[in-house]
Amino acid sequence: MKKVVILISGRGSNMQALLKAELPCKVVAVISNRADAEGLKIAQDCGIPVAVVAHTEYSSREQFDQALAETIDAYQPDFLLLAGFMRILSAAFVARYYGKLVNIHPSLLPAYPGLNTHARALQDGVRIHGCTVHFVTTELDHGPIVIQAAVPVLADDTEQTLAARVLREEHRIYLQALRWLCRGQVKLTADGLVKLARYKQAGFTLIYPGPE
Ligand code: GRF
Repeated sequence: MKKVVILISGRGSNMQALLKAELPCKVVAVISNRADAEGLKIAQDCGIPVAVVAHTEYSSREQFDQALAETIDAYQPDFLLLAGFMRILSAAFVARYYGKLVNIHPSLLPAYPGLNTHARALQDGVRIHGCTVHFVTTELDHGPIVIQAAVPVLADDTEQTLAARVLREEHRIYLQALRWLCRGQVKLTADGLVKLARYKQAGFTLIYPGPE
């Protein structure tokens, strides 16, 4: 069975959605860069080993990443999932785990990399927003896309209502992506794209607002 390590920094709702689900893999550890991450308690309550590698205790990003990598490697994971892990990772770290390192981002990448994605989407007046699971490369919030979910942006949305609609889909697509990964149904191609062994859905179009 494939082994998975999840990295978090805070609330941990994506991690929790994965831990609650039936998985074709074993989550062998949850690691946080913050001792006060709420998600650590959730993981412990699920009986998952947790570890903290506090970035504040290292004087450079490289030193922190090295300590983090040593902690991760003790668990020998097949996949390393970032789930609200709020540290930018060094090029050496990304290279070490390329093909195993996956992130969830609350926008339809390549739109809105970085922070405050929901506020920026509202500001721009986009009608469709969403979330993306992708392999991590050195370019922040870029990298081969595994799966995306789109949601409508409603006329009376606030940042909070839009974030909540997107988060529901994050929980669904991260689980789907992890299942595909663990079953070997996702392949990274040499040109840096993702090939999926199967698409369950026949194609359909999301148009929002819809026709009258
Ligand atoms: C999610 O929106 C995720 O996409 C982003 O950070 C947030 C983490 O939320 N990278 P949670 O900790 O999983 O609840």
